[in-house]
Amino acid sequence: PARVLSLTQPTADSLHLGNYLGALRQWVALQDDYETFYGVADLHALTVEVEPQQLTERTLRSAAQFVAAGVDPVRSPVFAQSHVGEHAQLAWVLSCLTGFGQASRMTQFKDKSARVGADKANVGLFTYPILMAADILLYQAERVPVGEDQRQHLELTRDLAQRFNHRFGEVFTVPEPHIVSSVGKIMDLQDPTSKMSKTSSSPNGIIELLDEPKANIKKFRSAVTDSDTVIAYDEENKPGVSNLLNLLSVFTGRSVEQLVTDFEGKMYGHLKVAVADAAMEVIAPFRQRTLELMEERTELEALLLAGAERARAVAAKTLADVYDAVGLVRPA
Ligand code: TYM
Repeated sequence: PARVLSLTQPTADSLHLGNYLGALRQWVALQDDYETFYGVADLHALTVEVEPQQLTERTLRSAAQFVAAGVDPVRSPVFAQSHVGEHAQLAWVLSCLTGFGQASRMTQFKDKSARVGADKANVGLFTYPILMAADILLYQAERVPVGEDQRQHLELTRDLAQRFNHRFGEVFTVPEPHIVSSVGKIMDLQDPTSKMSKTSSSPNGIIELLDEPKANIKKFRSAVTDSDTVIAYDEENKPGVSNLLNLLSVFTGRSVEQLVTDFEGKMYGHLKVAVADAAMEVIAPFRQRTLELMEERTELEALLLAGAERARAVAAKTLADVYDAVGLVRPA
């Protein structure tokens, strides 16, 4: 079967609802039809300042959350990026094929570096998408399940694969992003015109899956809507209500149109309660499972090591082909 690969960054104590719906849920679904590889982008996490102990903890938590979401480590190797040295090795080769201008045009880089201030932004932040391209290309992945915010990075990845193949011969599979439109961009609950994000302005706008259920219920119930009273889907004029309808649809399997009919004549408060209930039915057991897995620390570490071994078997082959293709003398 064709391959699928994706990673998340361990840059927070918990994954948020956008990560879960946009990425993790798709990862789980794709396991049935693809050969799947899922990783923790711990090297990427070094692009922002983080306490060493915290990085370790968050990496293990990420693996636990993958499993709690339904990633089956028997079918899908779960690994830490830093455990497979080939990621950094291929990133170097690809960086030598990436134009300075091309890297400068990455909007996430522009946003992130603007946020920390140009003089504080590190070079890792700049080359970040190239490491991401290496993550993907090493596994010859055909599909990459991600949220909308990663689309431009996937474009760069495709471009680098094509450039390499054109210049050195067919080595890489050119990957396609796998972005599901209903969940590709989950919006912030307090600022529904922006995507839910770790760096969002208000902590109340983001549902961290491992937070106390009570806190999350409160966040859903105090989601920003509008001064109107009609429950209708209109992303432009009613972004808050539309985000809630979309979330309820995703969690219940009912279409947005059906929901609009269901809620005819009802108040926004009813909708918020329904969203909170439906979401917590999924989030609460997910959290419980994650906390249980976190108690078996050595098992999580073993899971990552076993995953890395399987990942390396694939990655090493690709890297050897790349080194050959560019003319590096074989070490043995
Ligand atoms: P990261 O860690 O920021 O996010 C993890 C995944 O969650 C998706 N996502 C969202 N989806 C829907 N709505 C949202 N509001 C939302 N916010 C985040 C992201 O698109 C992502 O799929 N660069 C990547 C990590 C990475 C990677 C890779 C991904 C490193 N190497 C190779 C795929 C393949 C990142 O920072 O994701």
